[in-house]
Amino acid sequence: MTSLPATMTAIEISEPGGPEVLKPATRPMPLPGMGEVLIAVKAAGVNRPDLQQRQGGYDPPPGASDIPGLEVAGRIVALGLGVPHLRIGDEVCALVAGGGYATHCVAPAPQTLPVPKGLTMVEAAAIPETFFTVWTNVFERARFQPGESILIHGGTSGIGTTAIQLTRALGAHQIFATAGTIEKCRACEALGATRGIDYKIMDFLKVIREMTGGRGVDVILDMVGGDYVQRNLSALAMEGRLVNVAFLKGAKIEVNLAPVMLKRLTVTGSTLRPRTVEQKGAIAAQLHRTVWPLLEKKTVRPVIYRTFPLAQAAEAHRLMESSEHIGKIVLEL
Ligand SMILES: NC(=O)c1ccc[n+]([C@@H]2O[C@H](COP(=O)([O-])OP(=O)(O)OC[C@H]3O[C@@H](n4cnc5c(N)ncnc54)[C@H](OP(=O)(O)O)[C@@H]3O)[C@@H](O)[C@H]2O)c1
Repeated sequence: MTSLPATMTAIEISEPGGPEVLKPATRPMPLPGMGEVLIAVKAAGVNRPDLQQRQGGYDPPPGASDIPGLEVAGRIVALGLGVPHLRIGDEVCALVAGGGYATHCVAPAPQTLPVPKGLTMVEAAAIPETFFTVWTNVFERARFQPGESILIHGGTSGIGTTAIQLTRALGAHQIFATAGTIEKCRACEALGATRGIDYKIMDFLKVIREMTGGRGVDVILDMVGGDYVQRNLSALAMEGRLVNVAFLKGAKIEVNLAPVMLKRLTVTGSTLRPRTVEQKGAIAAQLHRTVWPLLEKKTVRPVIYRTFPLAQAAEAHRLMESSEHIGKIVLEL
């Protein structure tokens, strides 16, 4: 192990609240345990769950760092026992259950992947949270297959920009994506969507019915919930699958479930953060095999909207709250 300073700088949530509660702090240097690595962080992705954690609505799972940040890229500076396949000096990106907004971050080795060749640290830091989430929800839970059609809500979110590109690269027939402005809809189309739907001026259900000849789509990836749920069920084809990764407009609704029975639909969803290292490691292995070659060929790419220095994490959160962004916001060290 190289000699490490005794302390590190992190951005902590001083109390639940607005972006101003994100404050730089000095914390003891974390040390990697069995099966873990310590990463000197060069960049850390910002995700909407970080905003929910800051507001006091999304506590870290037991044992995870209270420092926000679910993904990092950097260089390994220390190894715990039982990590035979990684070395000090390796450039990696990692999915973590917390602790990303810091100069140093501990990551489980199975959730640590090499920086894809040709990508910057900022790009690499923007990969794990959305690629793990899209992979496990769209391809595993919703069983998306080549030749199928998909509706992706929040098309320009970090999750949406990833889902559009991955389903396009892996053989989607038609991709529909909703977004809140015409400019965002065009961005979805530039990433590979067949049609961006400005949900503020158009009913997505009507567009889906028109563009699929009344058939509907095979899969819907949704983060909105609320009044979208009933229309999602209506927009699905026979044997369709609805997968929710969030309920930004609410999870408690009154819904007519008859379409689930009549069209033999599957309604599912999941959260990534509380899953075991083993489960996340299995997703990492799939991504490494299937998606890393696509990233290295630039068939898919993380879409970086803006970077901020770590000390300006509050500004990064304000930007995400504005929903002005297209793609990812990343903290740079
Ligand atoms: N389940 C999981 O494992 C998991 C993992 C990661 C993220 N997530 C969830 O996935 C969602 C996307 O995450 P992200 O980091 O990609 O977020 P993001 O980049 O901030 O994107 C969220 C987008 O959703 C759209 N939106 C639609 N309705 C909204 C509403 N009522 N309130 C706020 N935004 C709304 C906004 O775009 P428009 O203005 O164009 O509508 C916004 O830009 C978040 O809800 C997050 O919590 C879930």
